[in-house]
Amino acid sequence: MNITLRIWRQPGPGRPGHMVTHRVDDISPDMSFLEVLDVLNQRLTAAGEDPVAFDSDCREGICGMCGLVINGIAHGPQASVTTCQLHMRSFADGDVIDVEPWRAGPFPVLKDLVVDRSALDRIIQAGGYISIPTGSAPEAHSILVPKDDAEDAFDAATCIGCGACVAACPNGSAALFLGAKITHLGLLPQGQPERDSRALAMIARHDAEGFGGCSQIGECTAVCPKDIQLEVISRCHRDVVTALFHHGEQQEGPPEDQTGGNLASGPAGD
Ligand code: SF4
Ligand code: SF4
Ligand code: FES
Repeated sequence: MNITLRIWRQPGPGRPGHMVTHRVDDISPDMSFLEVLDVLNQRLTAAGEDPVAFDSDCREGICGMCGLVINGIAHGPQASVTTCQLHMRSFADGDVIDVEPWRAGPFPVLKDLVVDRSALDRIIQAGGYISIPTGSAPEAHSILVPKDDAEDAFDAATCIGCGACVAACPNGSAALFLGAKITHLGLLPQGQPERDSRALAMIARHDAEGFGGCSQIGECTAVCPKDIQLEVISRCHRDVVTALFHHGEQQEGPPEDQTGGNLASGPAGD
């Protein structure tokens, strides 16, 4: 196959960027999209030019590093795969393909196609953990988990933190990511001690990082490589409302909205 890539090139954070056309000939339809970028970079390097900066690590859909907007779609035209799992047989010989970084305020471009997604890490740091009592490991069957809860928790836990949901959301919301993390821990017995504080702290961090509110449009689920469902956003909403109610009971007054108003009219805010 011979293809033409129009790639966003940006020398650094806050610097102006623009699309640059690169032609790549003689590639196999069985190559992954990232392998084509590897081939392009080998040729650019051999010619003494600056290679295209892009993120990747596992290259098997696990780590969540490889986020690219390809022809306007986060992770490209094939559903339920990451960019590293996208193969050139999804395109036609002679195609012109636009390649851009995630576009979202909380994900500033570092260089070319690489963005800073540490805002998602800080949401996890705010509450995406459970307390671990020290001592010997408990007997495996000492805490029973209903099968449906275990399966739903596992589905939510498959979120790899890639950020495609943010890139696709017209509001720049990380509600699907947040919902997956809160659902994963909130469904399990081990996640109950911090359930209220987790929900309040994580949504407060989400808002403080500059992510937008959710109005349940569903663009996020369409691009999620792990098929995380909108239901996790509803679960997140319920956990936050319950936490606010408990907080209000403790204060012996009406629940106070600690979410910056982001829950006013939508599952994670409108
Ligand atoms: S919810 Fe899906 S799209 Fe969003 S970060 Fe997790 S895996 Fe990626
Ligand atoms: S449901 Fe819509 S508004 Fe909410 S996070 Fe997903 S894409 Fe954004
Ligand atoms: S490189 Fe790890 S998910 Fe794509």
